[in-house]
Amino acid sequence: MTLIAPSLLASNFLSLKEEILSIESAGADWVHVDIMDGHFVPNLTFGPELVKQIRPITTLPLDVHLMVANPEKWIEPFAKSGADSLTIHPEANGSCLSLLKKIKKLGIKAAVALNPETPASILEPFLDHIDMILIMTVNPGFGRQTFINTQIKKIHLVSKMIKEYPKNILLEVDGGITNITAPDVLNAGATVLVAGSYIFKEGPSTYAQKIASLKI
Ligand code: DX5
Ligand code: ZN
Repeated sequence: MTLIAPSLLASNFLSLKEEILSIESAGADWVHVDIMDGHFVPNLTFGPELVKQIRPITTLPLDVHLMVANPEKWIEPFAKSGADSLTIHPEANGSCLSLLKKIKKLGIKAAVALNPETPASILEPFLDHIDMILIMTVNPGFGRQTFINTQIKKIHLVSKMIKEYPKNILLEVDGGITNITAPDVLNAGATVLVAGSYIFKEGPSTYAQKIASLKI
């Protein structure tokens, strides 16, 4: 079954609570929260305080995507604020393996995200320590970018890697997901789709239809 994680980056921040309640009743499975620090990516978004305030208003898992230069510094604050999963980038500073172990020790899901230019081969040593792999299908930093088609091959490859591994690992895809790009992504083996602008752009009355259109 496909899980859908709307990305709050594309929501209306002035009515964030209503936006979250709307996606929840529209059938969203997770809430994707993009954390950007202006260093790892050229954009700034949210801190742990936002996650803390969101936590009591929804029962949906909070899927926190850390696009920060120093993930080490942020793992504990976000876990303590109520994140259910923390996704880190091996392209950032620090030993990815010890960061993943730190996340697991805090009792939440750990995931590794790969930028479009990062090869799937680097995942091997992490497989034992992760619950999910995130394949970026845009360069991280902004919503509303165009889906990078060449990543389909990587999704296939990683899907195969996961199926051969004796453990359940989710495969999430993030960036440029729409009803047009989703079928290829799902056929390639993705199990979780993040979508921002596609879901939010036409307002709450369309959320249920948008989410359903991705669950194919
Ligand atoms: C990009 C973020 C994405 C982004 C997706 O750096 O990681 O989660 O919000 O937005 P869309 O779906 O509009 O590409
Ligand atoms: Zn993201």
